Amino acid sequence: MKLIAIALCLLALSSAKVWNPHMHDDKLFETAENSNVFWYEQRLDHFNPQKEGTFQQRYYDIDQYWDPETGPLFLYICGEGTCRQPADNSFVVNLAKKFNGRVLALEHRFYGETQPTEDWSTENLQFLTPDQGLADLAQFATDKSREFSEQYGIPHRRWICVGGSYPGALSAWFRYKYPHVAFASLSSSGVVNAIPDYHQYDEQVFFSTSKSGSLCPERFVKAHKYIESIVNSGNRLEAFKTFGYDKDMVDGEFYYFIGDLIAGPVQYGGRTDFCDGLMAVDDDMDQIINYLVNFAKGMGLVLEQYTAEFTANTTIDYDKNMRQWTYQTCANLGYFQTPAKAEGVPPMRPANIEVDFWEEFCERVFGINIFPDADHWNARYGATSPATTKIIFTNGGEDPWQHAGVTETKNPHLIPIVIDCDNCAHCVDLGGDHPTDAPELTEARARIADIFEKWIQQELEMERSFPTEAKANLRELLSK
Ligand SMILES: *[C@@H]1O[C@H](CO)[C@@H](O)[C@H](O)[C@H]1NC(C)=O
Repeated sequence: MKLIAIALCLLALSSAKVWNPHMHDDKLFETAENSNVFWYEQRLDHFNPQKEGTFQQRYYDIDQYWDPETGPLFLYICGEGTCRQPADNSFVVNLAKKFNGRVLALEHRFYGETQPTEDWSTENLQFLTPDQGLADLAQFATDKSREFSEQYGIPHRRWICVGGSYPGALSAWFRYKYPHVAFASLSSSGVVNAIPDYHQYDEQVFFSTSKSGSLCPERFVKAHKYIESIVNSGNRLEAFKTFGYDKDMVDGEFYYFIGDLIAGPVQYGGRTDFCDGLMAVDDDMDQIINYLVNFAKGMGLVLEQYTAEFTANTTIDYDKNMRQWTYQTCANLGYFQTPAKAEGVPPMRPANIEVDFWEEFCERVFGINIFPDADHWNARYGATSPATTKIIFTNGGEDPWQHAGVTETKNPHLIPIVIDCDNCAHCVDLGGDHPTDAPELTEARARIADIFEKWIQQELEMERSFPTEAKANLRELLSK
């Protein structure tokens, strides 16, 4: 999402509104001309046999490195944004090169060009759930395994899932729920823990910016308090106008935007850029505000997009994801970024965007009372303790999303890796190799590849012993 802090690897989770200057399209994704685009006919509703209907689901197929005899299949999971073909120097494609693998990337329903319904009415969004998205993946991957097996005369092949942010969570949930389809997964910044009152995000923004020196968060706190004082003194329209919106809006919506001014760069690996700039201006409120206004422009943050009115628009637009993602957070997942609550941590966003603001926001956007029951969700997928094996959970040490992910575990079959380095944040490992990469990042990628190598060998052995689809379902049990 934009620099907005949605979960998009590109997007920020929160709002998914901010773009990461360091995860720009040219690094993670191919340009349109290079794309190998295909369409798959998918079922609209996997869970209600009385509901008929299908839709076209977009996917990419990177097959030029594949050796059908021994090459693994990578299921690259796209999420809350347009699915773009992973670049030739992205981590997943580099893994495919290393292991002679094939990468298929499936666009998530309701995002990009994969639109199952005529519009985004609240009624139609009932078909937008992670469960439906996971079932899409299962149906797609199973069909593809059958197709490849027939076409190349190879055993029924299971998959390795790869995804980052919300797709990072999907990647883990998929391995947990469909072990007969996937034998391993990489869950990069996977937000597997649904937390409605997600104050840990704001706390991490403080910890991460403090790495630049206490002046960085201090100045930001001073600035947001000053902005709040303008709003409270009755000059709200003036405050909104300073940030480029000349109409009225709800204070909380504005404050959410203010929070993203600092959360965006932290989430997307731009912490030192942001803090260096903020600390370089004179200690003068006008100059500080001016810096923030310009930084917001540079990130592509648009204040209007934070209003419930903007997100209430039901017209499909391939370039928009705010309404759909907001629906997912309001319906199932939460992750509402509230101000810091930890002892001794100054909130990095204004005080009144607490959970009740989000409850109202959901209602204003969708016209119904809808708010996530996180316990219900976590009970169904196991949150940070899924009873499964062979998942690598990576998190960037500066990423505010890491507290909704797995950074440690008692399950010896899950492997958490925290990548701790300057500007190592959301989905940092999924990018391509770059000369400026921190050694910790390079090491983490090498470690993931080593672990995958072992798991791929084990799977190939099981595949040889139990080649059929029926036995593929039981491979791990039979091998014991
Ligand atoms: C709703 O969204 C569509 C597609 O982006 C846009 O063309 C239209 O102007 C929007 N409507 C309003 C009232 O903003």
